[in-house]
This record gives sequence, structure tokens and C-alpha cells, in this order.
Amino acid sequence: MKVFIIGAAGKVGLRLAEKLAHGGHEVQALHRGAEQSTKLSAVGAKPILGDLTLLSAQKLGRLMKSADAVVFTAGAGGAGMDVTNAIDGRGLELAVAAAQASGVSRFLLVSSYPDAWRDRERSEGFENYIRVKKLADAHLVASGLDWVIVRPGTLSDEPGTGLVAADVAIPYGTVPRDDVAATLAAIIHQPKLSRVILELTSGDEPISSAIARVATR
Ligand SMILES: NC(=O)c1ccc[n+]([C@@H]2O[C@H](COP(=O)([O-])OP(=O)(O)OC[C@H]3O[C@@H](n4cnc5c(N)ncnc54)[C@H](OP(=O)(O)O)[C@@H]3O)[C@@H](O)[C@H]2O)c1
Repeated sequence: MKVFIIGAAGKVGLRLAEKLAHGGHEVQALHRGAEQSTKLSAVGAKPILGDLTLLSAQKLGRLMKSADAVVFTAGAGGAGMDVTNAIDGRGLELAVAAAQASGVSRFLLVSSYPDAWRDRERSEGFENYIRVKKLADAHLVASGLDWVIVRPGTLSDEPGTGLVAADVAIPYGTVPRDDVAATLAAIIHQPKLSRVILELTSGDEPISSAIARVATR
């Protein structure tokens, strides 16, 4: 399969790019920093330089044309409300428009729990992040694409275990980025899982069986 990853040089994106490339897939890796091409090539992905704030939907659509699936895992990374609005918000809308324009139907989005960190002090920036993520989910749901939204809990860089809790609604928790990438890869291999919002934390079920269970319910 040919998979177009937006945010491919990020912590989840790079793990996913490596996993897919090692599995024999063609990985097109959109990244915005020229220096990131080396690490993307090193994991077997094809680097494609592009900035979500500068691309048009038509141009991004041409870049992703003929892909079997798009994965959007870009994010502002706490760079402030304006950047969150531009990347997690308008960037997602741009990517959806590009997928529609180029006829790529399958679209996976890395989102977040709407109830993330509700037990902590709530800053204006974090509240904005949660709001933008939720509106991005709603935008994708209304797109008509063959979407899957993954809402991971708090991400960690701990090694993955391959064991998760995954369902349409589960309690909030944490999850290693390795396991988020492995879950995205499993979803790419499971076309029956469609138009589902999947919450994801560490758990005790193998990723492949969790995805198969939800897909065939
Ligand atoms: N942190 C958490 O606990 C948590 C929890 C749930 C969900 N999430 C979400 O999970 C997703 C992936 O997280 P992560 O840890 O992999 O984040 P990350 O390492 O910050 O990766 C995000 C990627 O998006 C890229 N990006 C930002 N602006 C861009 C632009 N204008 N054009 C193109 N690419 C751009 C970044 O590029 P650069 O490398 O150049 O900065 C980065 O590579 C994010 O959407 C995040 O909101 C995070």
C-alpha cells in the first residue's frame, strides 16, 4: 500500500513511517524541515517537503494523489493557540480538502481525548487545544471520507508493549507512542474499521485483536 503521512517527522509519525516501510509499504512522508529528510529516508520513507501553512488544498492533493490512505498526525506541539489553530485546526481541514480533491478516501486522524487532563489546572491554551481537536474530529466526520479517528491518551516515549485498551469510549489513560503507531498500522490493514472514533490507552489486549474486535462488531 501507499500511505501518505502528514506530520511524518514527528514522534508518532516517524514511528509509523518506520513500521510501515519495514512492512514493505510505500511511505510518503510530508515534513516541513529540510533537515528532517535524512531521518525519514533512514527509516525507508520517501520525504516530501511541505508546510501545512503554505500549501493549498490543490497542491497537497497532488502530492497525496494515488495514496491508498492518508494519516494526519501533525500538531502544533504546544507552540501556542495561533499555531494550534493553524495546524491541528486549519491544517486538518486543508488535508481533508486535499484528500477529497485527489480522490483519496481512507483518512486516519490522530486526535485526543476531549476529557484529557480534566483533573489538572486548565490553561486557556490547553482548553483551546481540546476545542480545536474536537472541531477537527467533527470536520472529518462530516467529510464523507472513509475516516477513522484515534484518540490516544497522554503519549509517552516508553517502549511499546503491543497491549492496549481500544474502544469507542474507555477511561482516560496513557499510551506509548510506539503503540499508537502500531495501532495506526493495524487500522491501515483493517479496511472494515471505518467511521469509528477509537479511544486508545495502554491495556491488556493485543493491538491486532483489539482492532479486529472493533472492526467486526
Ligand atoms: N502529547 C500528548 O500527550 C498527546 C495526546 C493525545 C494526542 N496527541 C496528538 O498526537 C499527535 C502526534 O503527537 P506527536 O507526539 O507525534 O507530536 P509531534 O512530535 O509534535 O509531531 C507533530 C508533527 O507535526 C509537524 N508539523 C507542525 N507544524 C507543521 C506544518 N506547518 N506543516 C507540516 N508539519 C507540521 C511537526 O513538524 P516539526 O517536526 O517540524 O515540528 C511534527 O513533526 C499530535 O496531533 C498531538 O496533538 C498528543
